[in-house]
Amino acid sequence: MKAEILDMLSQSEEPVSGERLSTALDVSRVAVWKHIRQLQESGYDIQASPKGYRLYSAPDTPFPWAFGPLAERLHYYPEVTSTMDKAMELAQSGCPAFTVVVAERQSKGRGRLSRTWQSSAGGLYFTLVLRPDISPEKSPLLNLAAAVDLSTAIENLYGIHCGLKWPNDLLVDERKLAGILSVMSAESDRVEFVNIGIGVNVHNDTRKVQPPAVSISRLTKLRVSRTDILKAFWERFERRLCQQQLDRVIDEWRQKTITLGRWVKVQTIHDTIEGRAVDLEETGALILETDDGQRKTVVYGDCFHQGHARGQNN
Ligand code: BTN
Repeated sequence: MKAEILDMLSQSEEPVSGERLSTALDVSRVAVWKHIRQLQESGYDIQASPKGYRLYSAPDTPFPWAFGPLAERLHYYPEVTSTMDKAMELAQSGCPAFTVVVAERQSKGRGRLSRTWQSSAGGLYFTLVLRPDISPEKSPLLNLAAAVDLSTAIENLYGIHCGLKWPNDLLVDERKLAGILSVMSAESDRVEFVNIGIGVNVHNDTRKVQPPAVSISRLTKLRVSRTDILKAFWERFERRLCQQQLDRVIDEWRQKTITLGRWVKVQTIHDTIEGRAVDLEETGALILETDDGQRKTVVYGDCFHQGHARGQNN
């Protein structure tokens, strides 16, 4: 109902009367008025006059009703510990694939390797529940695909070119714009679900964040909308997975990466490996060439770029 009211108000240059809204939506004028009041309380600037209601501005909050047909799979919270926790509960209780949990703030936002993910208001924090028909060893491809699709969505909306750092960070001039964390529940050869958590720096203050980070608002003078970013990414990523287009993701990732060719340190849960990043395996694992010419493969870890590749001038 709120989506339809907002639709009618945003399409009209003139105030829209309560009577017109109630006839078009087939509800009473009192019901219309209640929805309008809730929208106003949620931050929509809707002015009422004898001629009707007029929408002046909308808050940049990813409320479900801003998502059209996707709304029924969107769970919005003003604050959670972590969207990963809520998504885990939903996934375990059988929610449909492509359910999204989004929150304005997280009190215990987390990153890879148990790090904290600062989650103050203004950022985009969400987790997407996937139920892919793939074998568990292919699940890292989902993270690569998420990074590729998120960077394309941001580029299309705001013209920002992000470089992808293995496995799935989005960087601009070596500063982090977005990070991705995933958890999987699987049996030996079957994935039950994969929850992909994504944090994008949008309007939140990143000046004190370490390692260095940057937000979309700081990079662009344009009006930035978290709803637009989430919608553009979600539609793109869902389309890719529904069309079973995971196979070409390694090539797409190669086009966008700034890791390959670089000398890197990869911190895994157990140790740290150093070498030149030479390529990805079919599963998304990173192939490193160490100082003594050996090739090593890293499946999971956090990667630190150490300047440019040895033996290269640029
Ligand atoms: C990383 O770069 O280390 C991954 C960061 C992932 C952060 C997101 S924000 C939404 C979701 N909820 C969390 O607690 N973490 C992920």
